[in-house]
Amino acid sequence: MMKPLILPFPGHENMAHDLAAALSLPVARATIRHFPDGETFVRLDTPVKGRAVIVLCGLHDPDSKIMGLMFLSDLLREFGATEIGLVAPYLGYMRQDKRFHDGEAITSRIFARLLSGLVDWLVTIDPHLHRYHSLDEIYTIPSQVLHATSAIADWIHDNVPDPVLVGPDEESNQWVADVARRAGAPFTVLSKIRHGDRDVEVSNPELDAFRQRTPVLVDDIISTAHTMIETVHHLRDAAMKAPVCIAVHGIFAGDAYQELKDAGAGCIVTTNTITHPSNAIDIVGLIAKALAERYPPAAP
Ligand code: R5P
Repeated sequence: MMKPLILPFPGHENMAHDLAAALSLPVARATIRHFPDGETFVRLDTPVKGRAVIVLCGLHDPDSKIMGLMFLSDLLREFGATEIGLVAPYLGYMRQDKRFHDGEAITSRIFARLLSGLVDWLVTIDPHLHRYHSLDEIYTIPSQVLHATSAIADWIHDNVPDPVLVGPDEESNQWVADVARRAGAPFTVLSKIRHGDRDVEVSNPELDAFRQRTPVLVDDIISTAHTMIETVHHLRDAAMKAPVCIAVHGIFAGDAYQELKDAGAGCIVTTNTITHPSNAIDIVGLIAKALAERYPPAAP
C-alpha cells in the first residue's frame, strides 16, 4: 500500500514537515490562495491517485479557509485520493453550541455538517466540548480527540515552582482538574458571567490559602482574552502573584495578546495548535502518535 501524503494548508508547512519527519511520510503540495476579489484559488501540485491524503489545516479563522477546504477535498477526490483525513489542531465554531438568544444559528452544528461532507475522518486537539460531550453529537464522520493536558502539566511541572492552578470559569474545570492532577498541584475554579463579547465578570474564590503559590490560569482558548484579563484582575485584587496564563489554543483576536500582557499576566504560554510567539508547548508528537496508530508503518 502506498504511504499516505500529508498536505498542509498555507501556514502549516512547518508542522507538516515535522510530522512528515516523525512518521517518514511524504509531503504533498497544493496552492491555495485568495484572488484580489476574495474568491479562492486552489491547485493540486502533487499527484494523489491511489493514496490517502492527510490534510493539515487548523480551523481558527475558519471563514478564510472553509472554501479552500471544500475545493481541495473535491479536487482530491477527482484526482483519485482514496481517503481524505483532516488534522485540525484547532477546531473552530465549537463555542456556538446553543441558541443563546432567539433566532441565532447554532453554527457548531452547521459547521460540523459541512465538514462531515468534505472529509472522511477528523483528528483534533481539545475541542471546546461544553454542552456537547462528544464530537459524535454533531459530526457524522469518525473523529478522534487528542488532549494537550499532559504536555501542559509537564510544562508547569518543569517551569513553575509551587503552582496553584486557576480555572477562569466552570467550563475550564475539565482542563484545569486534569492538568492539576497530572502536575500534582492544587486547583480552584472561578465563576464567570459573560455580559458581551468583551465584557466578562469573574468572581469567587477562596484564594487566601494559596497566596504563597504562583497562580497558573489554564483555559482551552484565549480569544479576546477578556476571560483571562478579568481573572488576572481578580487575582491582583486578591493580592496574588502575577499569574502564568496558559491556553491550549491561543487565538488572540485583535490586540488580545498585548492587552493580556498589559493587564499584568506574568507570562503567557500556549501550545502550537495555532502558531503564535507564545507557543512553548509542542503538540506535534501527540498528532504524530495518533497518525502512526491510524497508518502503522509497514513492516521492513
Ligand atoms: C469559554 O468558555 C472558553 O473556555 C474560554 O474561556 C473563552 O472562549 C475565552 O474567550 P475570550 O478570550 O474571548 O474571553
